[in-house]
Amino acid sequence: MEIFTTAANLHAWSMAQKRAGLKVGLVPTMGYLHEGHLSLIREALKHCDKVAVSIFVNPTQFAPNEDYDAYPHKEEDDIALCEGEGAAAVFLPTPAEMYPTDASTWVEETVLAKGYCGAQRPIHFRGVCTVVAKLFNIAAPDVAVFGQKDFQQVAVIRRMVRDLNFPIEIIRAPIIRDEDGLAKSSRNTYLSADARKAALSLSRALFAAKAAVEQGERSAATLEASIRATTTAEGWLPDYVNVVDSETLMPLETVTPGTSAILLACRREGLRLIDNILL
Ligand code: PAF
Repeated sequence: MEIFTTAANLHAWSMAQKRAGLKVGLVPTMGYLHEGHLSLIREALKHCDKVAVSIFVNPTQFAPNEDYDAYPHKEEDDIALCEGEGAAAVFLPTPAEMYPTDASTWVEETVLAKGYCGAQRPIHFRGVCTVVAKLFNIAAPDVAVFGQKDFQQVAVIRRMVRDLNFPIEIIRAPIIRDEDGLAKSSRNTYLSADARKAALSLSRALFAAKAAVEQGERSAATLEASIRATTTAEGWLPDYVNVVDSETLMPLETVTPGTSAILLACRREGLRLIDNILL
């Protein structure tokens, strides 16, 4: 497996794969890899011949009051995990490699990025779109894989790819959960034992909502109220709970099975967790 630290070298590698007639996939990550990330590599390998994984904690998607400095790292383990999953390349740039000190250009999606997590984190998706656009230009992938866990992020990136004509197929890979239902996240490491136990209320509430839809419930208000009650009872206070159209993210009053999703973010003890479910 190749390890690149410069944009030029990753780009040259990707171009060489393409000249050889091979399809290149990209899995963008911020490292501290877990089973969820590894499932993205496996998914990419179903669609491509060679998969590159980028590991870069992107400073521009963190507000000054967020956890950029504390974001967990374990680079050596991450490299070994990528190799174990069959990745062909890892890209490990420094912030200086990614951002010239006088960088003054942003990529911003202006509709889907505004609500939900974007309302709480106003600069977040601008940072995500900017770094992902840069990674797309550097790695020139045919396919890029993102996790459904960050549902809004995938919708925003798909819109950016459509609007800016990136010739890249975006794949949304299913959420990977711990056995007890908690959606895997690098930030789960911040949870106390009590908060983690109570956090099971998020997935429990979403699974119950999906079951209710399968039994005929169609009212978004009823589903949202029941989810709020379940997580609040465990001390996880919802920032938002919304039944939405899975592509436009517009809030819905009535569920349409097949094209609706529920997005959820909750807070407790200064921590914030997100989860979602396709209906
Ligand atoms: O989902 C993430 O880990 C990040 O937002 C991403 C897509 C790697 C961009 O920094």
